[in-house]
Amino acid sequence: MQDDTIHITIIDRDDQEHVLEAPTDMGLSVMELCKSYELPVEGTCGGMALCASCHVYVLSDHELHEPTDDELNMLDSAFFVKNNSRLGCQLKINPEMEGLRLKLAPV
Ligand code: FES
Repeated sequence: MQDDTIHITIIDRDDQEHVLEAPTDMGLSVMELCKSYELPVEGTCGGMALCASCHVYVLSDHELHEPTDDELNMLDSAFFVKNNSRLGCQLKINPEMEGLRLKLAPV
């Protein structure tokens, strides 16, 4: 494994696990990573925290950065929101995310 690559597990809506290799040096978000692996994440708003099509649940106990007001506002109006909901487009991939487990929220 290269130093600048981590692994993020995505569980899709059919409960299939996908272990994705994620570069930490490209400024990618989790939404963009999922799209690059052709997982069913629309990313309709292009990562502006305006559509919630990148809604995920955080299953592991990683300490992620706090959501911004924009993310919280969008989650407020999204469906199927839980305590562990995040917007994938707002999660920039960084080395502390090694081993992160996420589940795609229903659409
Ligand atoms: Fe639209 Fe994340 S891509 S809110």
